[in-house]
Amino acid sequence: MAIATVEHVERRARVLKALDGAVGLVLSGDVAQPLHGPWSADPYFTYLTGLRDEAGAGVLFDARAEDPRLACVLLLKPRNPEMEVWDGYRDPISLALRERLGFTSIKRTGELPRLLTQALRLRKRAACLHPFAVYDGPVSPDLALFRRVAERVPGVAIEDRTNLLRKMRAVKSEAEIALMRRAARVTHKGYARLLAMLAPGVGEQQVQRVLDEVFASQGGGHAYGPIVGSGLNGTVLHYKANRGPVGEGDLVVIDAGASVEGYACDVTRTFPASGRFTPDQRAVYEVVLRAQEAGIAAVRPGARLSDADRAARDAIEAAGFGDFYPHGIGHQLGLEVHDATPDDPLEPGMVVTIEPGVYLPDRALGVRIEDDILVTPAGGENLTASIPKSIEAIELAMRR
Ligand code: GLY
Ligand code: MN
Ligand code: MN
Repeated sequence: MAIATVEHVERRARVLKALDGAVGLVLSGDVAQPLHGPWSADPYFTYLTGLRDEAGAGVLFDARAEDPRLACVLLLKPRNPEMEVWDGYRDPISLALRERLGFTSIKRTGELPRLLTQALRLRKRAACLHPFAVYDGPVSPDLALFRRVAERVPGVAIEDRTNLLRKMRAVKSEAEIALMRRAARVTHKGYARLLAMLAPGVGEQQVQRVLDEVFASQGGGHAYGPIVGSGLNGTVLHYKANRGPVGEGDLVVIDAGASVEGYACDVTRTFPASGRFTPDQRAVYEVVLRAQEAGIAAVRPGARLSDADRAARDAIEAAGFGDFYPHGIGHQLGLEVHDATPDDPLEPGMVVTIEPGVYLPDRALGVRIEDDILVTPAGGENLTASIPKSIEAIELAMRR
């Protein structure tokens, strides 16, 4: 089951309340180029509406609207019957659509300039909900529109409320956690299948195909571009060619996770192609595993990801590999693989990845181990723990 409409209604009600009379706007993003692959709405828009395929749309929040039905308005771009022949057929605005999406008010985007300008003329407070861009990136979409209104309406104050949706998205509901557990189960099935076929002589591409097939057959897909890197390729952090051979003595780094109803799983495992770790590989693997366990143990309410990073990094530095762990410990996970990241420390309901690694190109040897940890009141629950990770469990699973 996907997220229920009523949960989207509740999310919007929370935003409306938290805005405390300020006007907010969340936009789905521009229309994609035709033939450029699947388009997906801005995840902040999807989070509030459940809609993934409505380009050029928005949600306008104005809690003090005179007509309470206009406190939260869904704006959809106009229908264009000639374009629908190219891009697909779209719904008319109707009672059925309002009920399906849980909005009391759906309008066409042609009304946005008037509605937004009027709301800001009366309320004088515009709340930025989309994250701010870094200064050499494009200005965030709501801020760009608020500035255009502020040029025409004196006295509009623009506020930073960017932590509001980030925080809401980071703390997962029961329904979201259930979907993430499903994504973890599908991911486990993919790894179980590839453990049964991984051997010297297979190609990285064949390994990826196993994952493609399992994820697709379970109603999911890849949550992100998968990495299957054997030997030297396993030392390249964002390797994505997945076209090399798997050699006899290689370690194979596989970073792949399924997506279910838009929610991501993100797992990395490192397996010996031969089914047995050499003493050399075992030594490095044990360091990374110890570091990862230390990182996971540091996940608890009130901690920060930097605490987990420190714990894992200490273990890697103590083993003399400090210069070979060039990335951070992990990230929030959810609707996006690198999910909305609030300013606040960890809280129950957040899901983070813990993924230290050691990469030794001179030895054509890379090791990364990544799990998804749900923050609980007591600490953390590893959602991906069932995927073989200890040396014994991996060698057992690969014994044929
Ligand atoms: N798969 C992307 C990451 O681990 O962050
Ligand atoms: Mn990953
Ligand atoms: Mn990750």
